[in-house]
Amino acid sequence: SLDATAKTEFPVPAGIFAETVTSVEHYTDRLFKFRLTRPASFRFRSGEFVMIGLPNAEKPVFRAYSVASPAWDDELEFYSIKVPGGPLTEHLQKIRIGDTVLMRKKPTGTLVNDALLPGKRLWMFSTGTGIAPFASLVRDPETYEKFDEVILTHTCRNVDELRYGQELVSAMRDDPLVGEMAQKLRHYCTVTREEYPRQGRITDLMTSGKIFDDLGLLPISPETDRGMICGSKAMLNDTKRVLERFGLKEGANNNPATYVVERAFVD
Ligand code: A2P
Repeated sequence: SLDATAKTEFPVPAGIFAETVTSVEHYTDRLFKFRLTRPASFRFRSGEFVMIGLPNAEKPVFRAYSVASPAWDDELEFYSIKVPGGPLTEHLQKIRIGDTVLMRKKPTGTLVNDALLPGKRLWMFSTGTGIAPFASLVRDPETYEKFDEVILTHTCRNVDELRYGQELVSAMRDDPLVGEMAQKLRHYCTVTREEYPRQGRITDLMTSGKIFDDLGLLPISPETDRGMICGSKAMLNDTKRVLERFGLKEGANNNPATYVVERAFVD
């Protein structure tokens, strides 16, 4: 990262990595993905998040971003919204290959396999950019060592917002390293504001039972099913309520239980 440091206008503060952008892809006018070089000393667990900033001020603005790449990847991937006038994303959306992005050294988070009791089936419920931590976890072999079946749900307002997840899952199916475990993965996409084969909020689809019919599964049960949730604050609260009605209980790193939650931060 010496090159990156040399390119920043301000000194890189202690406890922060300065990493180089290796790719950027824009999906819609609201969504983009970027990848960074990974510092050799950076360790994280799939599903965790880090604080990201730009070297454009003496006191950079940092925001929490889930690492979307798995722990074994030699680069770091992030999936971001573009908030008009947002203190970080307004600038971050303009990054190009070779630019420098800052990253605090310590990762953290609750969407990790360790926070859940063993189970048969893992549900990952996401809306919008809340798919990011699951993009990491579905590419991690550990997820499939712990569960027989993994179901990733992704709900967005519009069809074009599903593309990041769809491309990720189809790339996995063709990948020699993760292709075999991807057989245990089911991807269930819905939209709420446009015509599409599957429509509706995840909360409504669980309450009506439609999602279980569509997937040919029994309703969620604390005996067999585990949940992870990532989305807006309102989505987290409503999805938690539905899971609790099925008998699931919230867990944490030091107290594993049957579901865990994490906010999709930048909104
Ligand atoms: P809807 O279009 O009905 O609001 P957002 O971009 O606002 O975070 O929304 C992303 C997706 O999450 C949308 O499809 C949205 O549906 C859905 N959503 C928003 N709020 C909730 C909620 N409280 N519970 C479940 N899904 C929600």
